[in-house]
Amino acid sequence: MQADLVIVGAGLYGLTIAERAANELGLKVAIVDRRGHIGGNAYTEREARTGIEVHRYGAHLFHTSNEKVWAYVNQFTGFTGYVHHVYTTHNGEVFPMPINLGTINQFLHAALTPQQARDWVREQAGELAGTDPENLNDKGIQLIGRPLYEAFIKYYTGKQWQTDPKDLSASIINRLPVRYTYDNRYFNDTHEGLPVDGYTAWFERMVDNPNIEVHLNTDFFDNGEFGKAATVGSVPVVYTGPVDRYFDYAEGELGWRTIDLEEEVLPIEDFQGCAVMNYPDPDVKFTRIHEFRHFHPERDYTKDATVIMREYSRFAGRDDEPYYPVNTADDRAKILKYRERVKAEKQILFGGRLGSYKYFDMHMAIGSALSMYENKLKPHFAAGEALV
Ligand code: FDA
Repeated sequence: MQADLVIVGAGLYGLTIAERAANELGLKVAIVDRRGHIGGNAYTEREARTGIEVHRYGAHLFHTSNEKVWAYVNQFTGFTGYVHHVYTTHNGEVFPMPINLGTINQFLHAALTPQQARDWVREQAGELAGTDPENLNDKGIQLIGRPLYEAFIKYYTGKQWQTDPKDLSASIINRLPVRYTYDNRYFNDTHEGLPVDGYTAWFERMVDNPNIEVHLNTDFFDNGEFGKAATVGSVPVVYTGPVDRYFDYAEGELGWRTIDLEEEVLPIEDFQGCAVMNYPDPDVKFTRIHEFRHFHPERDYTKDATVIMREYSRFAGRDDEPYYPVNTADDRAKILKYRERVKAEKQILFGGRLGSYKYFDMHMAIGSALSMYENKLKPHFAAGEALV
């Protein structure tokens, strides 16, 4: 196919651009992805033995308050009424998260009112009041006081970063939300749910157009019909892979954290009674366990088995999947240099979480892709404006 537009990456960013360009502008679009499936990190599949939908790259819950994005995604899928809740096991006891009045009262074996709980947290946080926290540990104590911070945040954060919070920058956290009600709904967004037929059915509908060709197991940096050498400068390209890789790491490697996921099928109906259980204590190596059957209580899943996934966090090497930007001062200096290089490239736009070196939730990736389409690609293809 002679493509009008080449997209690198079949994640939600690339799929959104492809769908708009093909369906609204009638362009011929080629998408390449080095993985063997579309959907990027939001990809899910049915576990072979149980049929339970498993999120291959970590749990993905859709939520948004952006009406434009909500209307857009509803063209391709309906959403279930799933509302996300998280629990945490600390010292052999299960508490509701995020920290709320229920967590505090259980922690203190008390029946504090909202105002009493507020006063207690303020009193605890007073330990470091008026100081300028030098590290994440001090910042955490200053925000919510030592008891709650040490029980629920300190070691969890330490495990996520493989670093003692005393050695982490205070700038990693601005706030630690505490709710003085019993509301333990995880997200505050207007819309929330999971795609009724699963994520993959949703993504397949986005590219269901004869003008969209998807080339899987195809790396943009290999020589091929839609590789870098054959496309950049000759045909417009939207690149959603890692920005440092595109420039052959000329300004140095950007830091990422990755996660290792350990899946297990257990011969029981229910392992933990909820979708996500955090483990904030230092003697447990993983950070949390997902149990996928709980994402779809409306489905008639087998009662003979369940699928769980333990999550371990660590720094990513070059060959690991990059998941969360580390964003040290050194990384920030590098990304500024890469952005200068990006500006000098012709006929290519960079986007998505890897291309921008930014954490995006799914609705942000879609919203950002819709903006790129409206503000850059559409004016270029429909009105001949330069692609910059
Ligand atoms: P994404 O990474 O999905 O896609 C990029 C694609 O580019 C990949 O498929 C990759 O293979 C491909 N690619 C890279 N280099 C290439 C090359 N050289 N050649 C060809 N292809 C190449 N969000 C949310 O809303 N709710 C949630 O619950 C979660 N949960 C969550 C958990 C975890 C562990 C992570 C890491 C992330 C989330 N997210 C999330 C965020 C969500 O995953 C994110 O918003 C989307 O993946 C962003 O889509 P992109 O298209 O930008 O990237």
